[in-house]
Amino acid sequence: MADRLRGKVALITGAGMGIGREAAVLFAREGARVIAGDINGAAAQETVRVVEAAGGQALAVTGDVALEADVERMVADGVRRFGALHVLYANAGVLWKDRDRSVLETDADWWDRVMAINLKGVFWLTKHGIPHLQRAGGGSIVLMGSVSALVGFTRAQDAYTCAKGALISLTRSLAIQFAKDGIRCNIIHPGIVDTPLQAPYLTEELRREFRAGIPLGRIAEPREIANVALFLASDEASFMTGAELVVDGGFTAG
Ligand SMILES: NC(=O)c1ccc[n+]([C@@H]2O[C@H](COP(=O)([O-])OP(=O)(O)OC[C@H]3O[C@@H](n4cnc5c(N)ncnc54)[C@H](O)[C@@H]3O)[C@@H](O)[C@H]2O)c1
Repeated sequence: MADRLRGKVALITGAGMGIGREAAVLFAREGARVIAGDINGAAAQETVRVVEAAGGQALAVTGDVALEADVERMVADGVRRFGALHVLYANAGVLWKDRDRSVLETDADWWDRVMAINLKGVFWLTKHGIPHLQRAGGGSIVLMGSVSALVGFTRAQDAYTCAKGALISLTRSLAIQFAKDGIRCNIIHPGIVDTPLQAPYLTEELRREFRAGIPLGRIAEPREIANVALFLASDEASFMTGAELVVDGGFTAG
C-alpha cells in the first residue's frame, strides 16, 4: 500500500525528530507531499533528506510554533511550494519535567512557555492552516494530546497536562465548526513513546516501571503513533471527527 495520502499536501509541525519525523517519512511513502516544520532547522532538513532518499517529496520550514509570524510563514512557504494544503498535523510539543512540575513548584514563565508551544502553537497552526483546507474543499486536522490529559500522575507536569487537556476541547470545537467544509479534526492520546522528548527522563528504573505498568509490557515506538496519525489524515477515517484515539498499550484501560 502506498497511496493512502496520494495527492495530499500535509504540514507536520515538530517533524525534525521523534513521532513527527516518523510521520513525515510515512506520510510521504503513502504519496503525500510533506511540509516538515520544526524549530530546529537542521533536524527538519534531515527529515527532508530521509524522505527524499526514500523517493518522497518534502520541504523543510523552520520556525517556532509559539510565534504567529513563524507559523504564518511556514504555512505560506509550504503552500507556495506545493500549491495546496489538505492535512494539518499539530505534532510539535515540549515536555520539560524538570521545570514543569506541580503547580506548587512551577515558575510562571515556564508555565507560559509550555502553554505557548503546546497550546497556542496549535491555535496559530489552525488559524493559518484552516483557510487553505477550506480552499482545497476539505481536509484533516490531527492534534496531539497525551494520556496525561486523561489521568492524574503523582509525578506532575501540570502545564503540559493542562495544554493537552485544552486540545481535547479544541478538537471538538473545530470538528463541529468545520464539518460543513469537509474538514475533520481528531486527537491522538499517546502513552509513553521512545523519542528524544522522553530520552532525558527514561532511566532504567523508569523503563522497568513502565514495562510493569503498561498492559502490553513496553513503551511505544514512534511508528506506532505515526500509523494512527496516518489513518486519521487519510480518507480511511472519512467518518471520524471530534474523536479521541488513545494509543497507550492499554495503560488507561486499567
Ligand atoms: N514521546 C512521548 O512519550 C509522548 C507521549 C504523549 C504525547 N506526546 C506528544 O507527541 C508530540 C511529539 O512528541 P515527540 O516525543 O516526538 O517529541 P520530540 O521531542 O522527540 O520531537 C519534537 C519535535 O518538535 C520540535 N519542536 C519543539 N518545540 C518546537 C517549537 N516551539 N516549534 C517548532 N518545533 C518545535 C523539536 O525540535 C522536535 O523536532 C508532542 O506533542 C508530545 O507532547 C509524546
